[in-house]
Amino acid sequence: MRFPTHRPRRLRSNSALRDLVAETSIAPSDFIMPYFVLEDAPEPLEIPSLPGVYQHTLSSLSADIKEIKALGIRAVILFGVPKHKDSVGSGAYASDGVVQRAIAQVKDAFGDEVVVFADLCLDEYTDHGHCGLIDAKGHVDNDSTLELYAQIAISQALAGVDFVAPSGMMDGQVDAIRKALDRESMSEVGILAYSAKYASGLYGPFRDAVNVEIRGGGDRKAYQQDYRNASESIREVLLDIEEGADMVMVKPAISYLDIISKVSEVSSVPLCAYHVSGEYAMVKAASEKGWIDGEAVALEQMYAVRRAGADMVITYFAKDLAKTMQRC
Ligand code: PBG
Repeated sequence: MRFPTHRPRRLRSNSALRDLVAETSIAPSDFIMPYFVLEDAPEPLEIPSLPGVYQHTLSSLSADIKEIKALGIRAVILFGVPKHKDSVGSGAYASDGVVQRAIAQVKDAFGDEVVVFADLCLDEYTDHGHCGLIDAKGHVDNDSTLELYAQIAISQALAGVDFVAPSGMMDGQVDAIRKALDRESMSEVGILAYSAKYASGLYGPFRDAVNVEIRGGGDRKAYQQDYRNASESIREVLLDIEEGADMVMVKPAISYLDIISKVSEVSSVPLCAYHVSGEYAMVKAASEKGWIDGEAVALEQMYAVRRAGADMVITYFAKDLAKTMQRC
């Protein structure tokens, strides 16, 4: 049976019909909005390589969350940008550190109305810019880093975080954090694991956002995944679930739709995709040049991520897209 009996165009003839048969949906409640908070900032600063995204002060942070909440976004992920950095990233686990203060303020203001995630890593806080401690040979040392990750988790949990989100790609990080939280009687705090995180060229603008430069022009290829590989993502995700991850993540999103799709087939926990800074910047830049309709492309990319199998998306477009959705 084929043409002229079969005419797929029939199902596309008007928007009511297209909505009726649409397989994929997305809503503001599927978004997690990322925020950068700059320690002791006098005023919010726009990040040049991320137009429309700011290094926030504590007060501009709360004001913005109020706005996105009114648009239906119910989750945020916080990144701290400390004033001082050192070799062990001590600002990451200071009880009065920038992200701890931000967490406490947001939970105080919004309570259970907003789910608060916090990125759990060292790179924003170390003077060498790596995600872990450097050993005598100059390598990022896995096991001593885990002890610090446990301390960061406890400090963020004490500040009131709902979910910690370890992003450093150290082996055993979920296990170390889960055990530390449980030991401190904080079993209610969850873990969103950056499980399948690739060594990507798409994190450039993020490093501007958190004032990070890897010393000596290095890279993260000794701990983040090689983009030539897919099956190790399955291994990473299954290990993290076994270690106690409540949710897992694939990052970046658009160049890794095959990974999202594969992971969604094997994951027994909710799957998050991170549409990263470089993905945002590319759409913004082409849009500013008038070469594409940025908002339309952003929406198309969000649907692609959902179609591939992600349950939720971390995206710098969250606020703009939620505004568009409200108008529809
Ligand atoms: C590490 C971290 C990074 C991002 C999120 N968490 C940077 C990196 O791994 O180099 C990147 C997010 C983005 O590009 O939007 N703390």
